[in-house]
Amino acid sequence: MKALRRPLIAGNWKLNKTVKEAVELVTLLKRLLADCQDVDVVVCPPFTALGEVSELLIESEIRLGAQDLYWEEKGAFTGEVSGSLLKDAGASFVIVGHSERRQFFHETHETVHKKTKAALKSGLVPIVCVGETLKEREADKTFEVLEAQIKGALTGLGREEVEGLAVAYEPVWAIGTGKVATPAQAEEAHVFIRTQILREFGEDVAAALRLLYGGSVKPDNTAELMREPDIDGALVGGASLEAQSFSAIVKNAAGAALK
Ligand code: PGA
Repeated sequence: MKALRRPLIAGNWKLNKTVKEAVELVTLLKRLLADCQDVDVVVCPPFTALGEVSELLIESEIRLGAQDLYWEEKGAFTGEVSGSLLKDAGASFVIVGHSERRQFFHETHETVHKKTKAALKSGLVPIVCVGETLKEREADKTFEVLEAQIKGALTGLGREEVEGLAVAYEPVWAIGTGKVATPAQAEEAHVFIRTQILREFGEDVAAALRLLYGGSVKPDNTAELMREPDIDGALVGGASLEAQSFSAIVKNAAGAALK
């Protein structure tokens, strides 16, 4: 029997989907997932499709997320979008510190922390991403990297704030490569992260926090990952762009979580 944490499957569409394509995908997902009640499902379209997708999700259990936010509320910050604007567009989740943002847009521990805080302040659930590169894993630095990323993002937050967020462990070498971490590798990292949280925020927070795995999650590897005691869900990139594969992941996660 798995812990009582409710599974969470989030689809990160990245820089994909016009408004029309987003509407088509979500329309199909609503149909395919109509009776799936045991999992929280989130879709994270690009900013431009948030409004339309939000309208479509009004009567649905599927929740809306954004892929990034800026930490200031408003003002002269050309090109940026704040938590309150995302909330206003209908989002309830937001991805923070994805490795692509760290890698291509120079996000640091400090910016990830500010964004996490800003998301919580706006009433959004941050999905905070951490994960090591292949080079770091090969140099035996995985835990060191994860510890620094978790501390960087979360130190200074209140216990009740941390309890409400989700952390996604996404080894960079597994993202978009088809090279999924083995369930044992993922579980080992999740246990390490949960232990970090326990040390810093206490047992109750560590027990409540949802830890997602991300990196080449597909319908056929979801169940074995989800059966691990510390894997509470998935952050899905490529396979979330297609209704059949994303809904199959959600259903397989629901099935595995009940075992
Ligand atoms: P992937 O991406 O599923 O395409 O590997 C995961 C992610 O980047 O969140």
